[in-house]
Amino acid sequence: MKRVITYGTYDVLHFGHINLLKRAKALGDYLIVGLSTDEFNAIKGKKSFYSYEQRKKILEAIRYVDLVIPEDNWGQKIKDIKEYKADIFVMGSDWENKFNELKEVCEVVYLPRTEDVSSTETKEYLKTLN
Ligand code: CTP
Repeated sequence: MKRVITYGTYDVLHFGHINLLKRAKALGDYLIVGLSTDEFNAIKGKKSFYSYEQRKKILEAIRYVDLVIPEDNWGQKIKDIKEYKADIFVMGSDWENKFNELKEVCEVVYLPRTEDVSSTETKEYLKTLN
């Protein structure tokens, strides 16, 4: 059984997220998502529209996702990969080469990002509507 792990905020879920999760799951049999907590987003200077618990419920309802775990700091990935016995670490290409140090513990794959969609842009656009 091949286990895949990926990370993100997954706020205001969109088809770019689904494309990423579908391709990540297709690389193995079991997909773990490390989901940024609200506290971790605050550290990153981001604020999500949906809370951690709401984003977790949405992700858990997606057929490609097997397990959602909290991500609350930058340094936990190696520990998670070992603890959850992940074989492959996946991120979208906006993170290309940012996590190459993880190659010491598992395979690292960057998948092409879906063009022309992002949570931040969607939230900006919704603000302009009355
Ligand atoms: N992702 C993707 N294609 C997009 C948007 C996101 O493949 N158009 C991927 C990211 O590369 C990441 C995962 O989906 O691996 C979660 O990304 P996240 O940062 O939560 O979503 P974004 O829409 O990029 O959010 P933001 O605009 O706040 O950065």
